[in-house]
Amino acid sequence: MDSVTKDEKEETQASATMSKKQLRRQQRQEKWLSIKADVRAKEKQRKKRKRREALERGDVMAPTRKKLRTNTMAKSSCKTSVVIDCSLDSYMGEKDITKLVKQIQFCYSSNRRAQNPMQFHVTGVHGQTKARLESIGDYQNWDVNFTSKDYHEVFEKENIVYLSSESENTLQELDPNKAYIIGGLVDHNHHKGLCHSLAIEKGVGHARLPISEFLDMKTRKVLTINHVFDILLKYTEMKNWSQAFCSVIPQRKGAHVKQDVESSSQTDKQESETSSQTDKQESETSSQTDILLQESETRSKSGTQEYETSPQTGTQDCESSSQTGTQECEFSSQTDIQECESSSQTGTQEYETSS
Ligand SMILES: C[S@@+](CC[C@H](N)C(=O)[O-])C[C@H]1O[C@@H](n2cnc3c(N)ncnc32)[C@H](O)[C@@H]1O
Repeated sequence: MDSVTKDEKEETQASATMSKKQLRRQQRQEKWLSIKADVRAKEKQRKKRKRREALERGDVMAPTRKKLRTNTMAKSSCKTSVVIDCSLDSYMGEKDITKLVKQIQFCYSSNRRAQNPMQFHVTGVHGQTKARLESIGDYQNWDVNFTSKDYHEVFEKENIVYLSSESENTLQELDPNKAYIIGGLVDHNHHKGLCHSLAIEKGVGHARLPISEFLDMKTRKVLTINHVFDILLKYTEMKNWSQAFCSVIPQRKGAHVKQDVESSSQTDKQESETSSQTDKQESETSSQTDILLQESETRSKSGTQEYETSPQTGTQDCESSSQTGTQECEFSSQTDIQECESSSQTGTQEYETSS
């Protein structure tokens, strides 16, 4: 009885020292915990019902969890390796490490949902990043190759392409024999050009995404890790950069497909509709042997274009898929974002200011 009185006393004292805001937050949290199970159960029922209805209508359905489990990297026909380089731990504080790990989770989620996932590696896992990963669950059971080794210890130097918006080389195709490295750095552009400099120092290849070739964008072309990952993934599926960009880059980035690209892609479409089976076979073989990186002859030109405000005429809005719906993350372990919204809705995008 004494102890109950003591507890009650402590509770009263604690709430007396809490600000109104803290108190409201605590009440909200308590209310949520009391209804959480019920809300989740209803949501599950709603999803089941919607799925049943869609099946009855004959709609094309997103893969089920069961189906997703079979979409593994080992079984995938996509052999392109994409790597998140986590050796940049020391350039980030705790908050940004948390964002980095969240972005890795988003990448994993997208990859798992893909019919043919990319070969996903996370290298240089140590220090704060490792500790954060450990704190969210058994990440080692995910279908991802995690290693403490650095990317250049895992892949042959000549097969490495470090992705950087600062590179003068433009990515043209994705080669199944290459490893494309994304810098595991959430830095709000405080370390501008860091990954590019490090790649040059190590003597590995580097390239930027061909954004300015396909899109006019109001904002800078430095994207988040998960957006870069998703663009590469979409490209492996669609083999079309402008579609890949449009399906990933959030509309608030003000991306527009360039008019010439738009009209040429329409012509391409018409041509491809009439193209024969032989064409298809030819393109399949040629994509294997395509030149991967093309030295940009107009480095200085594209360098300035990258940070210019896009002309608003003669362009077409990207109807970004990231605008629609939420994305349910499917992690094999019980992480804190089991059901999370797509990254574009959770504020993981850091570079939003128009330049
Ligand atoms: C948030 S950015 C980090 C920016 C950082 N200041 C740097 O030095 O790269 C994370 C990573 O995404 C990739 N990335 C972002 N935008 C890119 C672009 N336009 N082209 C190629 N890679 C890009 C790069 O690998 C980059 O290291």
